[in-house]
Amino acid sequence: MLENLQAQPADKILALMQMYKDDPRETKIDLGVGVYKDATGLTPVMRAVKSAEHQIWENQDSKSYTGLAGDPAFGDAMVKLVLGGAVPRANVGAAATPGGTGAIRQAFELIQMARPDARVFVSNPTWPNHLSILKYLGMATVPYRYFDDETRGVDFDGMLADLKTAKKGDVILLHGCCHNPTGANLNPAQWDEVIKVLQDTGATPMIDIAYQGFGDGLDADAAATRKVAAAVPECLIAASCSKNFGIYRERTGILMAVSSDASAQNLNQATLAFLNRQNFSFPPDHGARIVATILNDDALRTDWMAELEDIRNTMLGLRSQLASELQRLSGSDRFGFLAEHRGMFSRLGTSPEMVEKLRVDHGIYMVGDSRMNIAGLNTQTVPILAKAIIDVGI
Ligand code: LMR
Repeated sequence: MLENLQAQPADKILALMQMYKDDPRETKIDLGVGVYKDATGLTPVMRAVKSAEHQIWENQDSKSYTGLAGDPAFGDAMVKLVLGGAVPRANVGAAATPGGTGAIRQAFELIQMARPDARVFVSNPTWPNHLSILKYLGMATVPYRYFDDETRGVDFDGMLADLKTAKKGDVILLHGCCHNPTGANLNPAQWDEVIKVLQDTGATPMIDIAYQGFGDGLDADAAATRKVAAAVPECLIAASCSKNFGIYRERTGILMAVSSDASAQNLNQATLAFLNRQNFSFPPDHGARIVATILNDDALRTDWMAELEDIRNTMLGLRSQLASELQRLSGSDRFGFLAEHRGMFSRLGTSPEMVEKLRVDHGIYMVGDSRMNIAGLNTQTVPILAKAIIDVGI
């Protein structure tokens, strides 16, 4: 039987991780996978995470199962973190998942259960694994224009025109903040227009929010998600704790199903639990417990927020350093967008050949679509990258 298996296409981001590992050059620079690194190249365990783990180690007296939707304390804390008070808690079904990807996968399956013929509108470009999972599940996708190759900002007119073709029963997948892979984001007025399109078309929004706290701050990054959730009859939200808590390998995420009709909540909650049971039964608990411990303890929460702010500001500093270094070297403002983008990534907007040249000639690794992980830089490597970009002729 197993001889019938066919080789599956490699995930480009993960394949790049391996290539970087295999490169013997000491001067190599990894701007590939979306993992935060400090100035020494380390992905640190955050202080509050260490303290929470310590507390858990001391106090936890059982590792028996939690609930199918995970520990309710985690669900409550995450609903508050992501949604603030934008919608009543009673209107939100929430289930812990293995990471943000787990939440996305469960959301797509939920959509399929509710509406097998739903089309999912996806930004062009989007995170490649969105497309890969949708294809794997056999779901129809419709790309909507998003990135403007000229300005390296959002092609907002194109986006709106494409979204207006959605209908009730379709799903519009939106990145809540820090768009992956481009780093180009909507401003608040543009979000208002998207909300109007959602209301006019009746399409259901699904928001992927994996980088809350990495763009303009915890509340600012969630503002659009909150506004959308409060303005439409129903909404799905897939949130990740991998990046903002730095607990990548603990696989901690949550799927929320928000309904303006509180009577739908029981069915939503029960279906989320059912879906968990079918796919993996109980979700992982360790990361979720760390997150709940931090969010429910004033001192830990304050420290976590302070460290997250440092991380965010470090990335913003690297963005402006890179933009000004490139301005100096190129004598033009054409790289100014790097300082405008938000989150971990920026799409440089160059060809796969140039990306390859950067890798071969300079040992600089970025994803083939020219997505760079800004957090892979430090103040010493920014000038090296800037010089390489100019040297290869971008
Ligand atoms: C990324 O986009 O690099 C991250 O979300 C990691 C991943 O799983 O692809």
